[in-house]
Amino acid sequence: MKTLNSVKDLKNLLTQERLKNKNIGFVPTMGALHDGHLSLVKHCVRENEVCVVSIFVNPTQFNDKNDLDAYPRTPEKDRTLLQTAGCNYLFAPSEKEMYPEPDTRTFNFGNLACVMEGEHRPGHFNGVAQIVSKLFNIIGPCKAYFGEKDFQQIAIIQQMVKSLHLNVQIIPCPTLREADGLAMSSRNQLLSDEQRRKAPLIAQTLKESATLATNKTVREVKDFVTNTLNKEPLLRVEYFEIANRHTFTPITCWTETTLPIGCIAVFCGNVRLIDNITYFVPQIQTN
Ligand code: PAF
Repeated sequence: MKTLNSVKDLKNLLTQERLKNKNIGFVPTMGALHDGHLSLVKHCVRENEVCVVSIFVNPTQFNDKNDLDAYPRTPEKDRTLLQTAGCNYLFAPSEKEMYPEPDTRTFNFGNLACVMEGEHRPGHFNGVAQIVSKLFNIIGPCKAYFGEKDFQQIAIIQQMVKSLHLNVQIIPCPTLREADGLAMSSRNQLLSDEQRRKAPLIAQTLKESATLATNKTVREVKDFVTNTLNKEPLLRVEYFEIANRHTFTPITCWTETTLPIGCIAVFCGNVRLIDNITYFVPQIQTN
């Protein structure tokens, strides 16, 4: 595996690969890698002749400076994990390298970016679009891999690819979970032992809500999730919404859409965790 810090060097190497007709696959990350990231890398290695992984904690997608400063960074460990997983090129640029001048572009994702993560982290998706569009420009991948834990992020990136006419296929990959159900996330490393013991309640409550969905209304299921989690003193629900999985418009009745998605953000102490669940509700239901 080669590690590159400069855009120019990476572009030169990838031009050589393309001249040899090699397919380039890409996994963008912010580092502090866990098995969820590694499953994306494994998908990428399996489906492409060249696998590029980027590690860059992108400041423009953080609306809170403390959150950016606290974001975990484990560069040495990440390198070893990527090497073992079969990555060919690790791109780890500096902030100056990625933003030689401030990026003033604003993207308009309409409703997609106004609800849930977009509503609670203003500017977040604009920052994600800025960095991912730059990375796609530099790397020129045929396929790029994203985890479904960030379900709304995938929709935003698909929209960006469509509106910019980019030649890259977005491959969503399933969320990986710890044995107790907690969705894998770099932020899990920031949890204290006690918080780590409580955090799985998020996934467990979502799972339970999926069974309730067959005979409860959307309102009842939403209240169940929020109340169950807020009863735990170490957890505080920031939002829980059940929405159309394509438009992210909140639903009030199960028959409004097929396979609605429930998206949640919960503070466990200062650590903000997100997760989601798909509801398989029979369409004949009328509530
Ligand atoms: O999902 C992430 O880790 C980040 O949002 C991404 C896609 C690497 C952009 O910084």
